[in-house]
Amino acid sequence: MAGNRTFTMIKPGAVKAGHIGAILAHINKAGFRIVALKLTQLSKEKAGEFYAVHKERPFYGELVDFMSSGPIVAAILEKENAVADFRTTIGATNPSEAEAGTIRALYAKSIGENAVHGSDSDENAAIEGNFHFAATEMC
Ligand code: RTP
Ligand code: MG
Repeated sequence: MAGNRTFTMIKPGAVKAGHIGAILAHINKAGFRIVALKLTQLSKEKAGEFYAVHKERPFYGELVDFMSSGPIVAAILEKENAVADFRTTIGATNPSEAEAGTIRALYAKSIGENAVHGSDSDENAAIEGNFHFAATEMC
């Protein structure tokens, strides 16, 4: 059975551009309940750890630099079939391929600065949520 939680980050570019409120409203309108929420900034080390799965990819250095370049919003979201439905809500990794009306189509600047992160599996959603939040911060 599919899990009912996913993890997201509003990335530094979208935070800097003032899109926190619009993106959270979009997430709520899409039917997700916010279970945990914080504004924070990742150190280079923490960003590297979070995206360690991409360590061998050519864009890893750029990704870590970008993700630690300014504040992010981290959140755990709840909805039936959360992981897959949230990937649909955010759209394709490359905003030029993202369906109209998706968060990335609306707010992403490029494949690197693509507005939001979304977990890719139930297992990673749990790992990523626990990376950012203590159990007492999940409501
Ligand atoms: P995310 O993990 O952030 O939700 O993104 P995703 O699943 O859609 O894409 P993924 O393959 O996991 O890649 C992680 C992030 O790396 C950046 N990226 N840059 N320059 C490039 O070719 C490239 N490819 C990926 C993106 O910011 C992507 O979100
Ligand atoms: Mg990913």
